[in-house]
Amino acid sequence: MNTTKVCDNTYRFSVNAEPNSLLFESLWPIPEGVSMNSYIVKGDKTAIIDGVCGWDGVPESLLDQLKKAEIALEDIDYVVINHMEPDHSEWLKDFAAMRSDFKIYTHQKSKILLERLLDVTQEIHAVKTGDTLDLGQGHVLSFVEIPNVHWPETIATFDTKTKTLFSCDAFGSFKSVPDDLFTDSMSSDEIADYENETLRYYANIIGAFSAPVKSAVKKLVPLGDISTIAPGHGLIWRENTDHIVDLYSKYAAYSNGPAEKAVTIIWASMYGNTGKAVPEAVKALEEEGVQVFVHKVPESHISYIIRDVWQSSGVIIAGPTYEYKLFPGLVSALDELGKKKAKNRKAFHFGSYGWKSGSQAEIDEINERLKMKWEFLEPVTFIGSPSEDDISVIRSRCAELAHSVIDWIAETEQAS
Ligand SMILES: Cc1cc2nc3c(=O)[nH]c(=O)nc-3n(C[C@H](O)[C@H](O)[C@H](O)COP(=O)(O)O)c2cc1C
Ligand SMILES: [Fe+2]
Ligand SMILES: [Fe+2]
Repeated sequence: MNTTKVCDNTYRFSVNAEPNSLLFESLWPIPEGVSMNSYIVKGDKTAIIDGVCGWDGVPESLLDQLKKAEIALEDIDYVVINHMEPDHSEWLKDFAAMRSDFKIYTHQKSKILLERLLDVTQEIHAVKTGDTLDLGQGHVLSFVEIPNVHWPETIATFDTKTKTLFSCDAFGSFKSVPDDLFTDSMSSDEIADYENETLRYYANIIGAFSAPVKSAVKKLVPLGDISTIAPGHGLIWRENTDHIVDLYSKYAAYSNGPAEKAVTIIWASMYGNTGKAVPEAVKALEEEGVQVFVHKVPESHISYIIRDVWQSSGVIIAGPTYEYKLFPGLVSALDELGKKKAKNRKAFHFGSYGWKSGSQAEIDEINERLKMKWEFLEPVTFIGSPSEDDISVIRSRCAELAHSVIDWIAETEQAS
């Protein structure tokens, strides 16, 4: 855990989860780690905003870091809980064992969780949008409800003196962040290095809540002159705060499409029959100038499939019929994509079968049930190995798919 000065009287103390040391939410791989950021704001009174995960031996490291920031444990008057998810709040149990005399500022909906998850007995002040907490020396913390980014009780906290927005899960990212790293000291290439993991974090963790993200951006931007965005995970944005707000707005828009001029192929093949047509599909798409992401299931982790479908305006589901239905790995990928609200994609299915194809029927059922609104071209299914004719039809369908993606993006750009 490390303490770093963010701006006047404001410190970050963070924990980086080591690469591959855990699955985030017990689901999502973190090959480049993830940071858990927490902040201290010091006026006449001192507040901690957010917490780090409980698994880092918080008492010892917190004490150590408070010492470096020249803050005594007994000087901490307030704890602001922006979000009850344990990656931000679990440390409170250990903290309360060290210092019990503090007040909690949080959303009304956090109360029950604070009591049931963390056995909290401290005084709880329920806050709503517009409520403030004056720390003295000009540091007035103003609270903004941003429900469902990521849980219903989530709030963001804005220091009206330093213009720092403590945004919790909003504007966050996977990938560890070195102690002293702030975006104003990074080159655009270094910032771009985080983008893949920001997109994957967004699509995996926040994507299903893209409508609330849009509402949150509308509420937060008018706070005015935000000079620093200090999220609960990932980079701390100084000066170029617009960049992360723009990225999040773009990712939120991807939910309903169009996204990028890209097509993701998700494919499976037990005996290589469907697989024979996949490189042909890739070639046909690339010839039309669209970017292609390819994932074979079950080998590709769903985390990366979701990331790439999120940024693609088109999707191809390629796989065989299995027990009169679609191949199971593709069913679960589609189901997850529907639940993550990757909606309105241009789509196409092809695949092999032995005696009676049932793959497109199941795709249609999932598309309908999860209200995905994916628009499918006529499927190409073939017995056993694809013939030259089958390959040729698949290639022309892929070209058609590429054109519909390109036209859709152009129409949307014209309309805006
Ligand atoms: C467990 C299993 C179940 C299958 N169920 C069906 C089926 O319900 N209908 C059908 O037409 N073919 C079925 N098949 C046959 C496959 O769809 C066929 O072998 C196809 O060519 C496999 O394509 P692939 O090599 O791309 O996996 C099944 C095959 C397996 C192994
Ligand atoms: Fe969360
Ligand atoms: Fe989080």
